[in-house]
Amino acid sequence: MGTAVTYERQGQIGVIRVNNPPVNALSHAVRSGIMDALATAADDASLAVVLACDGRTFIAGADITEFGKPPQAPSLPDLLLALDNHPKLTIAAIHGTALGGGFEVALTCNYRIALATAKVGLPEVKLGLLPGAGGTQRTPRLAGLPAAVDLITSGNPIAAENALSLHLVDKVVGENLVDAAVAYGSELVEQGAQKRQASTLPLSLTTEDEKLIASVGAKLLKKTRGERAPQRILNCLLAAATQPFEAGLKREREEFMACLADPQSAALRHMFFAERAAGKIDSLPKDTKALDVASVGIIGAGTMGGGIAMCFAQAGIKVTLVDMTDEAVKLGLEKIAKNYAISVKRGRLTADQTDAIMANMTTSSNFNDLAHVDMVIEAVFENLEVKKDVFAKLDGICKPGAVLASNTSYQSIDAIAAATTRPESVLGMHFFSPANVMKLLEVVKGAASSDTVIATAMAVGKKIGKVSVLSGMCYGFIGNRMLRHYGREASLCLIEGSTPSQIDSAMESWGMAMGPLAVSDLAGLDIGYKAREQLSAEQKGDPASYRVADRLVEAGRLGQKSGAGYYQYDPETRQRQEDPAVMAIVTEARRELGITPRQFDDEEIVNRLTLALANEGAKLLQEGIAQRASDIDVVYCYGYGFPRFKGGPMHTIESMGLDKAVTLINEFRDQLNPEHWQTAPLLTNLVANGGQLADYHRD
Ligand code: 3HC
Repeated sequence: MGTAVTYERQGQIGVIRVNNPPVNALSHAVRSGIMDALATAADDASLAVVLACDGRTFIAGADITEFGKPPQAPSLPDLLLALDNHPKLTIAAIHGTALGGGFEVALTCNYRIALATAKVGLPEVKLGLLPGAGGTQRTPRLAGLPAAVDLITSGNPIAAENALSLHLVDKVVGENLVDAAVAYGSELVEQGAQKRQASTLPLSLTTEDEKLIASVGAKLLKKTRGERAPQRILNCLLAAATQPFEAGLKREREEFMACLADPQSAALRHMFFAERAAGKIDSLPKDTKALDVASVGIIGAGTMGGGIAMCFAQAGIKVTLVDMTDEAVKLGLEKIAKNYAISVKRGRLTADQTDAIMANMTTSSNFNDLAHVDMVIEAVFENLEVKKDVFAKLDGICKPGAVLASNTSYQSIDAIAAATTRPESVLGMHFFSPANVMKLLEVVKGAASSDTVIATAMAVGKKIGKVSVLSGMCYGFIGNRMLRHYGREASLCLIEGSTPSQIDSAMESWGMAMGPLAVSDLAGLDIGYKAREQLSAEQKGDPASYRVADRLVEAGRLGQKSGAGYYQYDPETRQRQEDPAVMAIVTEARRELGITPRQFDDEEIVNRLTLALANEGAKLLQEGIAQRASDIDVVYCYGYGFPRFKGGPMHTIESMGLDKAVTLINEFRDQLNPEHWQTAPLLTNLVANGGQLADYHRD
C-alpha cells in the first residue's frame, strides 16, 4: 500500500487514509494505494469503509504534474470503477477542499460527510479540462442538471452547507470528522442502509434543461472568447441527461482526452504553476520574514488611490486615505462609497459587508496622520519630482521600518528612494487599473530595497488577493516596457494599411480581452500625447508609430472620455463604431510620411503584436528584470488582458516553437525595421542550443 495510503480497522468500520502532502493529489502512489486498500477492505470483516485524508485537505484533484506523462495503472476511472462496485458501504469524509478528481472520488462513494468548513467543487474548467472521472455524470444525477451546469462550467467551489442542500453531501459536522464518519458508517450499517450509487440514479432532459444548456453555451462562448472546455462540458452534461450512465461516461472520457490534448489546457496548466511560482523569490534567503502590515496609508484619493484603498480595506487592513485637500479626500471617499453601492445593488456584497469595509477607512489631508502606519503606498500624479517630494516628506513623518511604496508605472524607484534617508525601505508596488478589480501587482525592487521589504510587499499582495510578480528596475518595469513594443506595432500596422477595427478584431478573435487601439481609447489618448511632449525626437522613435495618435488628440479625439478616439462611441452604450473621420486622419498621416498602404491579413497583425511582446520579454529575462519566463506570462495574463488559455506571450512562443518565433522575428527585422526588431540574443541562443524558455535561469 506504501506510505501515501494506509488502512486500519476501527471496530466494524475500515478506514482508508490518504497522506500525500501538500494537497493529497491523486498521484500514482495514491491511486494504487487506495486500490490496494479497497481490496483489503473487501476481504476483511469490516462492514463499511471510510475514506479520509490527513493534512490540510481532502484529495484536491488529479496530480496535475502527471498530465502529459505516460499513464500508469491504475487509472482514476479504473479506481473509481472498483470503488463504485465495492461490496461494502463506502463513505467519504471531507475536510479542506475536495476538488476535481478528489470530489469525483467522493461522489463515487455511497455517502459523503463533510466538515462545515469544507468546500467541494469541480474546477477542471480552469485548467482547460473537464471532470474526467464521472463528475459530469454523477453530479447532475445527484444535484440536478441546472446545479451541475453551474458548478462544472464555473469551476467555483461551494461550501459544505450548500453542497448539503444540493444533495452532493449527506451530512455536515462541526468537528472530529473521522470519528463522526466512523460513527455515521456504524449508524448506516445498523439501519441496514443499502449501497447507494449515484450512477444508478435516474436523470432526464426537460425542455427547460435544454433551453438552459443552449443559453449557457451561448453566454460562455462570448465570455470565454474561444475556450473549448466549457462547450465540451455541456456536451457531457447533455449526454448525462440523454444517455445511460455507461454511454455518458464514455462520452466524458472522449471529451476529457480531447481537452487534455488541447494546447489550451497546456496553457492553462502552465498558468496554474506560473501563478504559484511567481510568489517565490529565488534570491531571498529562506529565513526572510515579512513584516506584519495592519495599517496602510494611501496617498492620492483619485481613481488609482481609491481602488488601492478598496483592496486593503476589503482584506481587513486599516486604511488612511490622504490627499492634499479635504475636498479631494471627500470626493475620493464618495467615489469608493458609490462603487460599493453598485456592488450591493448587483448582489456581490451585502450592505453589512460594505459597512464593515468602509469602517476600515479613514481620511485625512494631513500627511502627519501617516506617522504610525506600517506601510504607505503613494499613488499621486506620474511625475518624478512630485513623487520625490512626497517621499522626502514621508521620510520625515513615518515610523522607522515602515514600508514606503510607490505605485509608479514608469519612474525610477532608485531616484525616489534617494529622496529619503532610508532607501532600503522603499520599493515599487505597481497596481493596475481598476486596482480593486485587476489581479496583478508588480513588486518593483530598487537597488537598495531590503529583502524584508520585498518579502513584505509580496505577502501583502497575497493577503489582498493579488497575484504578485517581482520586477527589477527598468523604465516601465516588466509590463509597460513590453507594452511599448506592442503598442508600436499596433500603430504601425494601422499606418501601413490596416484599420482600427481590423487590428482590434484580429487580436480579440485571437483571445485578447480588448484590442490595443480600443484599450488606448479607454485609457485616454492624451496620456501618451502628454508623455511624448516631454521626449526628444530621438526618444519618441519612429514618427509612423505615433503620428495618427497625435493627430487624433489634436482633433480633440481623446478616446472614450471625449466620445471619440480611434472609434466613435455611443454615448449611452459606449459601443464602439468605425468612424470615416479616423480613416481620413490615417490617410493624411500616410501621405505626410510617404507610406503607401498595403493589404493586411489578421495573422500578420497577431504575429507582429505577440512577437513584439515576447521578443522584449526575452530581453527582460536575460537582463534579470524578470525572474523567470512564466512571471512575464503572469504579468500579461493578469495585468493586460492576455488570454490565459494562450498562457501568456512567453508560453505562446514556446508552444509555437522558438525556432519558428525566431524565424518570424528575423523576417520582421529584415522586411520591416531592423531597429524595432532586434532579435533577443536569448532566443537565438536557446534555438541554437535546443533550450527552452521555461528552463531558463539567469546565472
Ligand atoms: N496536482 C499537483 N500539484 C498540486 C495540485 C494538483 N492537483 N494542487 C495543488 N498543487 C500544488 C501546488 O502547485 C503547490 O505546489 P508548490 O508548493 O510547489 O508551489 C502546492 O500544491 C500547494 O498549492 P497552493 O499553493 O495552491 O495551496 P493553497 O492552499 O493556496 O490551495 C488548493 C490549495 C485549493 C487545493 C489549490 O492548490 C488548488 O486549487 N489546486 C488545484 C485543484 C484542481 O484544479 N483540481 C483538479 C485537478 S484536474 C482533475 O482532477 C482531473 C480529473 O477530473 C480527472
